[in-house]
Amino acid sequence: MAEVILRDLAKTYPGGTSRATDEVSLEIGDGEFMVLLGPSGCGKTTLLRMIAGLELPDAGQIVIGDRDVTYAEPRRRNLSMVFQSYAVFPNKRVRDNIGFGLRMHGVDPDEIARKVAWAADLLQLTPYLDRYPAKLSGGQRQRVAVARAIVMDADVLLMDEPLSNLDALLRLSFRAELKKLVEQLGTTTVYVTHDQVEALSLGDRVAVMRDGKIVQCGSPTDVYDEPATEFVGGFLGSPPMNFLTGVVADTDDGPRLDLGGQSLPVPAELAEHAGQSLKLGVRPEAVDVIGVGGSGEVPADVLSGELQVLEPLGSSTLLTTEICGQTVKVSAPPTFRAEPGGVLVLRLPDEACRWYDPETSLLLEVR
Ligand SMILES: Nc1ncnc2c1ncn2[C@@H]1O[C@H](COP(=O)(O)OP(=O)(O)O)[C@@H](O)[C@H]1O
Ligand SMILES: [Mg+2]
Repeated sequence: MAEVILRDLAKTYPGGTSRATDEVSLEIGDGEFMVLLGPSGCGKTTLLRMIAGLELPDAGQIVIGDRDVTYAEPRRRNLSMVFQSYAVFPNKRVRDNIGFGLRMHGVDPDEIARKVAWAADLLQLTPYLDRYPAKLSGGQRQRVAVARAIVMDADVLLMDEPLSNLDALLRLSFRAELKKLVEQLGTTTVYVTHDQVEALSLGDRVAVMRDGKIVQCGSPTDVYDEPATEFVGGFLGSPPMNFLTGVVADTDDGPRLDLGGQSLPVPAELAEHAGQSLKLGVRPEAVDVIGVGGSGEVPADVLSGELQVLEPLGSSTLLTTEICGQTVKVSAPPTFRAEPGGVLVLRLPDEACRWYDPETSLLLEVR
């Protein structure tokens, strides 16, 4: 096992117009499960392939354990990798697929048999050891690829979207198994995905990437609750974080965010932004629905808007409303009943509100 340290890794592909990774720095602890999360093309695979030694950076440094491996050959890095495509040998039985790397390393046959049996047991492949991959389901083939990676006793396990070729149900069950497996092994793992649910469910920490850069790295709770930028708030969560833009007005009741007809209190710490616009971010499930229907007086700390769409989703009901021309989605209990066209009265609890500078998109500190 080992820690992995990336320092200022930059990479532009020949003929590429922009940097695939742009001065990426990240420290992954010994035994940590780190997820690289971001939209397609943001540089996740490039970063993983540089750690693996399959691509060389233009600048920067990669340290695994106490060794600088920036320019070391892949086989000198003691890591194993699981790719998105199953990459199993069709002409080899499961047993020989799993033991392939060990045989290449000249490991003793008894030792290979012992390790293959161990990995097959962990990945529920024991009944299939003598089958050929063609006789396996997609999920089983991907298990073979994972088994082949874990028998190597590598310092670091690298996985590039290993679940993305599986159907939804299989992905869900294999995700939980993978989490259990990696916890048991305790191997330092770097896992790439564009699926935010997968990232939150698996990672000890999640590094959110955009345009070749890491925009935020933290525990799943941190990146979800305190998105460092609007992009992170919008990329995580389904539906994503709501954003409401307004202008800070200095009133007798303290600073308020004027949305144009309605307003909300702004934390006293942000009073200095009077006259400027600010963006409020709030998660759909953090908004309280405090009433529906009437056209009576609305209290000072709430907003109201016409209920436009009501979507029962089983475990919750998603409400879409418009407040001063800005769409807000709210997650209500599954028992929530109302007719579209009615007025929704919503409270945005102080502690659930995040504040962003609309120019930089950065989270503003509020203590
Ligand atoms: N072999 C390559 N040659 C040229 N450009 C590449 C190559 N691989 C990736 N890219 C470009 O580098 C950027 C990052 O790609 P990639 O690391 O594959 O992103 P991700 O895995 O997040 O989808 C993209 O703009 C992509 O088009
Ligand atoms: Mg990729």
